[in-house]
Amino acid sequence: APTVAVILVAAGSGARLGRSVPKAFVELAGSPILARAVDGALSAAEPAQVIVVAPAELMDEARSVAVRAAGPSATGYLTLVAGGATRQASVAAGLTALAPEIETVLVHDAARCLAPPELFDRVAARVQSSGRAVIPALPVTDTVKRVQDDVVLETVDRSELRQVQTPQGFPRAALVDAYARADREYTDDAAVVAAAGVAVLVVDGSDRAFKITTPWDLQRAERLLEEPAG
Ligand code: CTP
Ligand code: MG
Repeated sequence: APTVAVILVAAGSGARLGRSVPKAFVELAGSPILARAVDGALSAAEPAQVIVVAPAELMDEARSVAVRAAGPSATGYLTLVAGGATRQASVAAGLTALAPEIETVLVHDAARCLAPPELFDRVAARVQSSGRAVIPALPVTDTVKRVQDDVVLETVDRSELRQVQTPQGFPRAALVDAYARADREYTDDAAVVAAAGVAVLVVDGSDRAFKITTPWDLQRAERLLEEPAG
């Protein structure tokens, strides 16, 4: 049985994408974003329990999309749970479904459905070797300035800054304990565990792990799927 779980949060509405169906069900070059995300999580070298956190009103639809994407051999690794009103509540719902033998938990946005399988393996391996929380990140390429009322205060040293992605990885107990203690909304899971005093390490992210947020992002993802990988 796998010792790694991927909590795939897919319960958001996708307001910024602006479609009539929740973002997980929006098709990207012929398959739903959720199907591509399930396929990515199950294609990592290390087998994983995949916990799909889906919109509560579309559980049956989410189950059929996820089962079809997983295929018969991997369906046994799939678990579906209903999400909450915020991403953090959806992750918390996913945590309740962890199989007993799980030691490493990766939390991943279904909206980052082109994240390569190697990225899951890189993050999980680093969690296992370090016993710490691990996040994938990319350098910031634009010049960044601190601004107040349309006036530039200063140029920020971008060499210290990173753009953070998912999957983010955690030792199970650290993540579960930090979620139990979280007293407010945080912007990512690493911030939840950091608030509980856990050190967070960074590994190289991937250009393909960008989040599909706007119609422009969806077009970018469609173009990437037309090109040979690389
Ligand atoms: N998510 C979730 N439960 C929520 C809100 C978000 O599971 N209550 C998930 C989304 O499905 C998505 C990921 O968290 O895979 C990142 O969130 P985001 O990109 O903001 O997706 P949405 O919240 O769906 O989009 P929007 O904010 O534009 O409505
Ligand atoms: Mg959102």
